[in-house]
Amino acid sequence: PLVSMTDMLNKAKEEKYAVGQFNINNLEFTQAILQAAEEENSPVILGVSEGAARYMGGFKLVVKMVECLMEEYGTTVPVAIHLDHGSSFEACAKAIHAGFTSVMIDASHDPFEQNVETTAKVVELAHFHGVSVEAELGTVGGQEDDVSGSIIYADAKECAELVERTGIDCLAPALGSVHGPYKGEPNLGFKEMEEIGKLTGMPLVLHGGTGIPVKDIQKAISLGTAKINVNTENQISSAKTVREVLAEKPDLYDPRKYLGPARDTIKETVIGKMREFGSSGKA
Ligand code: G3H
Ligand code: ZN
Repeated sequence: PLVSMTDMLNKAKEEKYAVGQFNINNLEFTQAILQAAEEENSPVILGVSEGAARYMGGFKLVVKMVECLMEEYGTTVPVAIHLDHGSSFEACAKAIHAGFTSVMIDASHDPFEQNVETTAKVVELAHFHGVSVEAELGTVGGQEDDVSGSIIYADAKECAELVERTGIDCLAPALGSVHGPYKGEPNLGFKEMEEIGKLTGMPLVLHGGTGIPVKDIQKAISLGTAKINVNTENQISSAKTVREVLAEKPDLYDPRKYLGPARDTIKETVIGKMREFGSSGKA
């Protein structure tokens, strides 16, 4: 069934595993991720960025597509449709009214007071509709970080204050993770993660899940991380499959013949992550 993230993440935090947020970019991504979740009997979060929603035809189309696939597949595992890095109250409101079951308001680039204000407004609307809310503090590296070029750690006291003043359901404190591939080994702030986890009591979210070694994943989970976001890894693995298929058969043009194999690759990648995160069998 379509659900918010709240119960999923509280259960994950309690039982020490993480639910994967896998970003969708098109029909094949959505099929692959839903199939993987059902096969693994795992809860799952479908991450939808504003750009991806625009690409696919809008928030409403995304909701209908997911609903239709779930009906077609007879999906039994909990599924959340989650706005990833929502850039404004308006974007979150649009997603909520289109039927999203969860939103992230990313006002992390704004001054703290403004972040609190915007986040609180989103929570008020979201909770009225039974929709869960994720907020962010600090700056995740990579793509998101086009302003300063540096990673800014979330401040523990601000995290506690944001949680208390807004009533969010989960918190993404930026602690050294990066969107897109890591240059070398990731260097995550586990000490800060532990402190923030304890101080807020919130299920924590780890952005930039692509390329994080299993030992770091396990450590993060042990410190209260209950949601891990993965996008790039599925993009890289499926693009590799498309390249291989087309290189092997230069005359091939039927999209089903290269997107089908790409879909299989995404499914395999997602299954691998679900097992790493410990969410398999937890639906
Ligand atoms: O919000 C999306 C995630 O943080 C994705 O990160 O593309 O590095 O896997 P990733
Ligand atoms: Zn992210």
